[in-house]
Amino acid sequence: MAGNRTLTIIKPDAFNSGKSGLIIAHLEKAGFKIISSRVMRLSEPQAQAFYAVHRERPFFAPLVRFMTSGKCMPMVLERADAVATLRKTIGATDPAEAEAGTVRKLYAESKERNAIHASDSDENAEREAKFFFAEAELI
Ligand code: CMP
Repeated sequence: MAGNRTLTIIKPDAFNSGKSGLIIAHLEKAGFKIISSRVMRLSEPQAQAFYAVHRERPFFAPLVRFMTSGKCMPMVLERADAVATLRKTIGATDPAEAEAGTVRKLYAESKERNAIHASDSDENAEREAKFFFAEAELI
């Protein structure tokens, strides 16, 4: 995706509490364009596959439980330097450590229920985009 796309997920805590509109507005103000989006509830196998890299971590089971607890909103976003800019825009994993004005500082409840996901590399952005969207939805 040549460094200009990334994958985000508005997680069940934020979606369920009606924060998706505010979060999308925040991302658009930061210069991101939505390429593709959907509202869905992850199945347990889908959540396990998406977070497979964390399967040995102690937080894996609660993470899968949380991510399957309600609807979420995966989106492919586009702007220059997308991966790094989105990670800066959303802030640290733990909202207690996130900078003021970041999405997680504003909307996340905790490190576990942290409102939003962002890909951590161009390779993962491409893999994660394909996890949720068909080729035709990524044009
Ligand atoms: P995310 O960016 O979606 O990627 C992995 C997720 O695991 C992370 O956000 C957190 O929501 C969740 N998580 C829960 N506990 C921890 C932890 N101790 N360290 C890192 N991530 C955690």
